[in-house]
Amino acid sequence: MGKVVNDFRLTLGGRSYVPIMIGGMGVDISTAALALEAARLGGIGHISDAMALQVSDQKFDTRHTRQKARTHAATRDSLDKTSVKFDLDELYKAQRRLVESVMARKRGPGAVFINVMEKLTMGGPLETLEVRLRGALDGGIDGITLSAGLHMHSLGLIKDHPRLRDAQIGTIISSARALKIFLRSARRIDRLPDYVVVEGPLAGGHLGFGDDWATYRLENIVGEVLEFLRGESLSIPVIAAGGIFTGGDAVRFLEQGASAVQVATRFVVTREAGLPERAKQAYFRASEEDVLVTSVSPTGYPLRMLKTSPALGSNVKPQCEPFGYALDGKGQCAYLDAWAAAPVDAAGHKGPVHDKICLCYHFSKNNCYTCGHYVYRLKDTTLRRPDGSYQLLTAQHVFEDYQFSREQHIALPEPDWIKAASAS
Ligand SMILES: Cc1cc2nc3c(=O)[nH]c(=O)nc-3n(C[C@H](O)[C@H](O)[C@H](O)COP(=O)(O)O)c2cc1C
Repeated sequence: MGKVVNDFRLTLGGRSYVPIMIGGMGVDISTAALALEAARLGGIGHISDAMALQVSDQKFDTRHTRQKARTHAATRDSLDKTSVKFDLDELYKAQRRLVESVMARKRGPGAVFINVMEKLTMGGPLETLEVRLRGALDGGIDGITLSAGLHMHSLGLIKDHPRLRDAQIGTIISSARALKIFLRSARRIDRLPDYVVVEGPLAGGHLGFGDDWATYRLENIVGEVLEFLRGESLSIPVIAAGGIFTGGDAVRFLEQGASAVQVATRFVVTREAGLPERAKQAYFRASEEDVLVTSVSPTGYPLRMLKTSPALGSNVKPQCEPFGYALDGKGQCAYLDAWAAAPVDAAGHKGPVHDKICLCYHFSKNNCYTCGHYVYRLKDTTLRRPDGSYQLLTAQHVFEDYQFSREQHIALPEPDWIKAASAS
């Protein structure tokens, strides 16, 4: 009989884990509750620090976003956002508090990491990134996954931090070439990564590929990265990600030489994930034709999403004053130009903006249904209720399905409507 994921273990920093990582999903889709379940079950969960101030406002009733909008009210009607900056002290406090609050609740043998995207340049790429990394380390995070960028300067920003060598630090790459670039900068401060996530073209969120993404295969990239590391005599665990939908898929990568898998899409439809019910049902309902790889993200990376996402074609005014997470160091965001170029009709109404979306606004409203390629298979992982809706899953159910199911088998949940009816 073939193996199951539970026959393997990931060793990181001298500790042993179930080799399942739940990937970071901004903005607060991979909630603390989801990450804590992964840790309780012996794997690794991620929170994400995307839009940390907004997330802090929702969780802790702080007023960061409102305050920032007030401070920068003068540029609301202008396309010049060069003066829109984050208050670094507030950013540090919010980041540290988010991390401290999850770490204080952590139970079990697993770990909680944080996903930090370089492309969220926040009007000051290096200084905001330094604050985010320091806030996470000071907050006691177990590990940091550097994503959405080559992170050539990131390790240097924390080179003197007392936790530089005690926290696990890894990076997400989509090619051996990107890993080489990262390793060059890591060697400069003598701090090699503890793990490398190799993300292929079927993943959710932003993709580290160009328009030719469909010509790549995850197993080939994993093979190239393993070979490269062997050639360099480096024993850095490789974690495969993107389109790994079943326990059997995961075993295939573990047998190829990966040390773990990173998965995300299957957890979007768990109770613990941070999306509202309407969005989770949209993920379940999706058909293969609903899945698009778009160029609407102002970050410049392709973004996979459902074509039912309310964000598409929206003409919302740029929301850089309250948010501004996608602004570069010069106050530019590609949505500003796209919005300015959208036509205005005779009555003065702005038409739809098709080229780009206001990433910050739409993620804050859960209007952007980013997803992995196999999102259309989610309906096969659950039951349909008599009212036509799909039953949400628990994170434990999905985690254990990956951990224990053989080959392409997917464990279905017990129907919750029958239990609910007999209890009443
Ligand atoms: C809803 C959603 C949001 C995501 N957001 C992020 C993110 O903020 N940062 C990141 O590095 N990756 C993000 N990803 C990618 C995942 O962390 C993960 O690597 C990938 O989706 C794994 O592939 P799978 O979804 O096919 O399992 C996201 C994925 C999904 C589905």
